[in-house]
Amino acid sequence: MKPANRIADLPPYLFAEIDKKINNKKAEGVDVISLGIGDPIDPTPDNIIEVLCRQAHVPANHRYPSYFGMPAFRQAVARWYKKRFDLSFDADTEVLALIGSKEGIAHIAVAYVDPGDVVLVPDPGYPVYKSGTILAGGKPYFMPLKAGNNFMPKLDEIPGDVAKAAKLMFLNYPNNPTSAIVEDGFFEKVVKFAKENDIVVCHDFPYSEVTFDGYVAPSFLSTPGARDVGVEFHSLSKTYNMTGWRCGWVLGNASVIEALGRVKSNIDSGVFNAIQYAGIEALDGPQDIIGKMRDIYKRRQSIVVESLKEIGIEVTPSRATIYVWVPVPEGHTSASFATLVLDKTGVVISPGGAYGPSGEGYIRISLTVPDSRLKEAMERIKKTL
Ligand SMILES: Cc1ncc(COP(=O)(O)O)c(C=O)c1O
Repeated sequence: MKPANRIADLPPYLFAEIDKKINNKKAEGVDVISLGIGDPIDPTPDNIIEVLCRQAHVPANHRYPSYFGMPAFRQAVARWYKKRFDLSFDADTEVLALIGSKEGIAHIAVAYVDPGDVVLVPDPGYPVYKSGTILAGGKPYFMPLKAGNNFMPKLDEIPGDVAKAAKLMFLNYPNNPTSAIVEDGFFEKVVKFAKENDIVVCHDFPYSEVTFDGYVAPSFLSTPGARDVGVEFHSLSKTYNMTGWRCGWVLGNASVIEALGRVKSNIDSGVFNAIQYAGIEALDGPQDIIGKMRDIYKRRQSIVVESLKEIGIEVTPSRATIYVWVPVPEGHTSASFATLVLDKTGVVISPGGAYGPSGEGYIRISLTVPDSRLKEAMERIKKTL
């Protein structure tokens, strides 16, 4: 039985591959510490869990949910954006619930990309921008994110014919995997570029609240004209330690929301209502988890940055995200260094090259394990190197 040709172009999902390696090592009896995936170990707050438990007992919630998200959930998203960014959205036409932002990011290409169309993808970048493009028959065009340009793409280096053939542009600040934050004035350039080339901008914003030292991450949709050209993807995953709950949203340009909603309503049947009620509690309820979460990641970031310094690797601490983006020591590739670290220490780190060609020469360390395990991992790496 021959799978479709598009599957041949689809790489195995990075973290599914890493999971296999972890399981193999565990089967060999190794005490594996995974600094691979960015999946918070810290629990979802009790008030959110309590709402889920209560709502799970309500029979009306056992039926198919709304395809587009419950109005009450979409209104809670709109309220959160008003509180956080002072932006107003029509919950009926400008907000759509997603089964985690990954799902919407993967499906937006189905709504906009015909075979052969181009999608502008940050390199390195979250792998789903590329795989969603391939699944829709489109061609990813990598926009390199280089340290010399503070990990911003150079829009004026995108060839004119590529820009004209592009239907979508993905961007993501605070950035995974580089942990970069957006430079002032960049989003204004993006809006102009998107208008000139008739491109839908998809700003992926899951780390908006994972910020340190007083940094406040801006929404792309705060940029004048942004709502004419784009949407923002977001979710409960990283802000409220809710990766497993699969609940997110996209908001912004109403025609893009309508197009993605049309695709989704033909494919999935929405998010379990009880989870949406818990999402409302997350967005409307006490927000003290955010300060606690920031303190935890800042502390873990210092553990990693200080340990790296002791082995001669200098990294400037970023002002956001749950990742540290680290240049590999001379003589190594990303993959050879990640393999060496795993084989010698049992510590999993992600090779930067897996996020795109410009990620070569880096590895990504995720801060989503308890401090004691992170210290242990860094001690093992220090001893081995
Ligand atoms: C940049 C980026 N976008 C989107 C996601 C997906 O998050 P979720 O589907 O849990 O909302 C992630 C998860 O790691 C991410 O790093």
